[in-house]
Amino acid sequence: MLSTTTLLFVSSIFGLATALPAPTPWGSGWSNGSHQGNKPVSESGINVQLGPRPYYLINDMSESPLKDKLESCTEGPFSTSSFSISHRGAPLMFPEHSRQGYVAAARMGAGIIECDVSFTSDRELVCRHSNCDLQYTTNLLAHPDLAAKCSEPFVPYDPATGTPASAKCCTSDITLAEFKSLCAEMEATTFDAINTTEYSGRIGSTPDWRTNMYAYSCAETMSLKDQISLVGSMGLNFTAEAKTPEVPMPFQGNYTQEDFAQQIVDTFVEANIDPTRVWLQSFLPDDIYYWIANDPAFGEQAIYLDERADLTADGYTTAVASLPDIAARGVNIISPSIWMLVTADNATGKIVPSSYAIAAKAAGLEIITWSFERSGPLEIEGGGYYYESVANLIERDGDEFIVIDVVAREVGATKIFADWAATITYYANCFGLE
Ligand SMILES: *[C@@H]1O[C@H](CO)[C@@H](O)[C@H](O)[C@H]1NC(C)=O
Ligand SMILES: *[C@@H]1O[C@H](CO)[C@@H](O)[C@H](O)[C@H]1NC(C)=O
Ligand SMILES: *[C@@H]1O[C@H](CO)[C@@H](O)[C@H](O)[C@H]1NC(C)=O
Ligand SMILES: *[C@@H]1O[C@H](CO)[C@@H](O)[C@H](O)[C@H]1NC(C)=O
Ligand SMILES: *[C@@H]1O[C@H](CO)[C@@H](O)[C@H](O)[C@H]1NC(C)=O
Repeated sequence: MLSTTTLLFVSSIFGLATALPAPTPWGSGWSNGSHQGNKPVSESGINVQLGPRPYYLINDMSESPLKDKLESCTEGPFSTSSFSISHRGAPLMFPEHSRQGYVAAARMGAGIIECDVSFTSDRELVCRHSNCDLQYTTNLLAHPDLAAKCSEPFVPYDPATGTPASAKCCTSDITLAEFKSLCAEMEATTFDAINTTEYSGRIGSTPDWRTNMYAYSCAETMSLKDQISLVGSMGLNFTAEAKTPEVPMPFQGNYTQEDFAQQIVDTFVEANIDPTRVWLQSFLPDDIYYWIANDPAFGEQAIYLDERADLTADGYTTAVASLPDIAARGVNIISPSIWMLVTADNATGKIVPSSYAIAAKAAGLEIITWSFERSGPLEIEGGGYYYESVANLIERDGDEFIVIDVVAREVGATKIFADWAATITYYANCFGLE
């Protein structure tokens, strides 16, 4: 993915900026080939805007050649990059899997936008991170008629015992029309609700490093078909994850896991989307092998999401050992979480590729990882889950770019998921990753 031409091109713009004899009306340092007027032209046609966050992170970095390089790119140009994958839209700030979140990610240069796919009671496909998260990602509980359909009813927080509030409301409990009547909310984390209206029908509260700013007006929930229309209309590409069902399959007696996997493919085919524009994903290897066998054009770039290291004590070792076999079975792309790809070289104090990353490359697998910008402040517990293998080397927010850089240039990841696409787009544009 590293385009040497673009890298040289970008460097030369900045190298020559001060030597340009006559600045163009919109300022110096702009290449005539990548700008018309003051509008950077992406293949997508989107005038990409990255906002202040990448600059904040760069300013926060300790001095290093990487910081110098990133600082050399402050004035752009910025454009859509397929290195930058929008994870659930833009959930650092916008309700996940909402139209508003997807549009925000597109503006921030994500070349690929994710829909996590779940099914409704009338077997329509909708974008939701989990089959059964409607109680904390939408305002469903504020609708008494829909709340009555939840797999498990709302039980308020019990201050006497400290038992958290609970409910289990699944996409498969309601119809597509009912789903589309819901508003997407910020994902909540603490389940201390005493009644269902307390947090606009959602239980739990938004972490203080995110915001509810864009959740007060109803953020639009979307079907997969809506999402394909929207992302297609912006000229961008797609990634769709078959979310592991939390209801017994076959659902309603005869809707099998294979039917679900096939329906996702059929939806893209009906929308006339070329398979090279679609990256299907699943944590269930059988879904990947199903696509490889039955929909090879889609199977070709299906993403095997690998969380095995999180599931058992020897999961990491097992995962590393299995990579050649996975490749031999036709999988081309592997996608573990960030921590699995990096490790702390304590002798040098450097973050380096992990044995998993080395084994995946040796097996010829393309590597994609998830998810940056999901962790909250890195000062707190070294960034938590996503950074857990390098936590002792993480001190400040700006260290995020060090990890991104190791993942991109040393591990050789070809794409990165992020909850705030701007950060990854900035990096990709600066290093000429298209
Ligand atoms: C625009 O860039 C091209 C190379 O991409 C160059 O040949 C041409 O001279 C440039 N034109 C101006 C007006 O700078
Ligand atoms: C829900 O709880 C809030 C206080 O947290 C209270 O103000 C409100 O009246 C309660 N609503 C209902 C319907 O009980
Ligand atoms: C699946 O079962 C439903 C009843 O739950 C029935 O209406 C439908 O025809 C069945 N579909 C197939 C393909 O067997
Ligand atoms: C979308 O995918 C196609 C096929 O892989 C590629 O040619 C195109 O550049 C991609 N577009 C964007 C905006 O990333
Ligand atoms: C590096 O040191 C930290 C503690 O300082 C430790 O937790 C970690 O396991 C070490 N990493 C490796 C790869 O040895």
